Amino acid sequence: MSNTASAGWGSRVGLILAMAGNAVGLGNFLRFPAQAIENGGGAFIIPYLVCFLLMGLPLLFVEWSMGRFGGKYKQHSTPFIFDAMGKAPYWKYFGVFGIFTNIAVAAFYCYLESWALSWAYYSVAGTFTGMSQTEVQAFFQNYIELGTSHPVIFWIICLFLNTWILSRGLSGGVEKVAKIGMPLLILFGLILGITGLTLQASPDGAINDGVVGLNYLWNPDFSTIWSFKVWVAAAGQIFFTLSLGMGSIHCYASYLNSKEDIALNAMSAGWMNEFVEVVLGSMIIIPISIGYLGIEAVTNMVSGGSGLGIGFAVLPKLFADWGAFGVVAGLMWFGLLFFAGITSSLAMGTPVMGFLDDNFGIRQSRGAWIFGGIILLLGLPCVLSQDAFNEFDYWAGTIALVVFALVEIVLFAWVFGMDKGWAEINAGADIKVPKIFKFIIQFVSPVFLIVVFIGAIPGIIENATKDTSFYGWMARFLLLALFALICVFVYIASKRNQSSKLY
Ligand code: ALA
Repeated sequence: MSNTASAGWGSRVGLILAMAGNAVGLGNFLRFPAQAIENGGGAFIIPYLVCFLLMGLPLLFVEWSMGRFGGKYKQHSTPFIFDAMGKAPYWKYFGVFGIFTNIAVAAFYCYLESWALSWAYYSVAGTFTGMSQTEVQAFFQNYIELGTSHPVIFWIICLFLNTWILSRGLSGGVEKVAKIGMPLLILFGLILGITGLTLQASPDGAINDGVVGLNYLWNPDFSTIWSFKVWVAAAGQIFFTLSLGMGSIHCYASYLNSKEDIALNAMSAGWMNEFVEVVLGSMIIIPISIGYLGIEAVTNMVSGGSGLGIGFAVLPKLFADWGAFGVVAGLMWFGLLFFAGITSSLAMGTPVMGFLDDNFGIRQSRGAWIFGGIILLLGLPCVLSQDAFNEFDYWAGTIALVVFALVEIVLFAWVFGMDKGWAEINAGADIKVPKIFKFIIQFVSPVFLIVVFIGAIPGIIENATKDTSFYGWMARFLLLALFALICVFVYIASKRNQSSKLY
């Protein structure tokens, strides 16, 4: 029934760039440096790397191999990939998370992405030239409070672009954008990073050298690694940055040929993300902003764990002071953020398209417009209200990822079976995955995830019981309704598919 069964990736390079693009996102440049500063600076890298090795890499192997396994049964979204692996009738409803989370995250993520698009435009248009720091800050505040119609216009342009690219398919749309966007992103990141690091303090410019910011970011406070909160933050960053627990990796991998390597591909995409995050992500916003504003001002700005304020309200002013290079720097910085964002949001659209195609025969071009329409409806509360935005971010962008990852690793290692799972990971592999990962996937990662989940429970209770505004309540209702609606579609699809069940 699937119209996209024959659709797939054009080349290995394209696949790896698309997968890396899925991972590399706003989280790498804005969230990571702020999280590191808030959680012990250089010492944060210890829990962060431990989480990457014991949870990130194992989950990458699991998600890639689950996806490729599903592709053999012409399934490209997690409800029926889980169904094929688990047999029991309830697994497909756990798989609903793999569609739900993509939609719900895209609803707020595309809005952030549209800020990057509009800031790239303002940089080229010279809007920030001559503004004082307070004026840029006020401009940003006015923008997010919808003081003009611009945020909505740029958001709609951004949604249209996402939808149009998705409607061109994987190799014709997503892969082409990744092949152009990722190299440009790395080039822009390197130029800005080198500029940040070589920044020199001078009487009429920066007050600190660029390395002061880098030292500050990576100066370790080892006392923090005994804090449970720091470990939960590191795990949360690993999830978000690698796009784990979402269902988008499964979908991309499901279009692979069953003989295709996944071990090396998963490693390449994962390590590429880490390079962009740890190396490039450290070299831009913190060194530049500390260079001009000093440590105290920047520390106050990153509280809350996101560098949005620095990225959008501080850097434009600093770039504007750089003269002609400032325009180029602004275009590179916001262009980089936009490419990072769009290659991630495109990945969020594909599971919905795969699900509609596999189970209802809806062609991917039409599925893309359906996805765009849903994001338009669900994104509106996030555009209109910070409370709604926060609810989407917390429930879908934080909690759902952990729940889904825990369920999928139990399904893979304990229900499908670790021996079969290990054979899946290694089938067609160009490298030998160290045997230790078999043990890690079966025992260490599940325990790790359970501990992270338990650690998140107080926050879950606090967030579930706290009162919120009308839009906050509306967001909660929409999230629940979305989950329930996808369950209904999965139920209908399972009835339709029963007669043609292949596994
Ligand atoms: N992985 C994406 C990011 O880091 C979602 O922004």
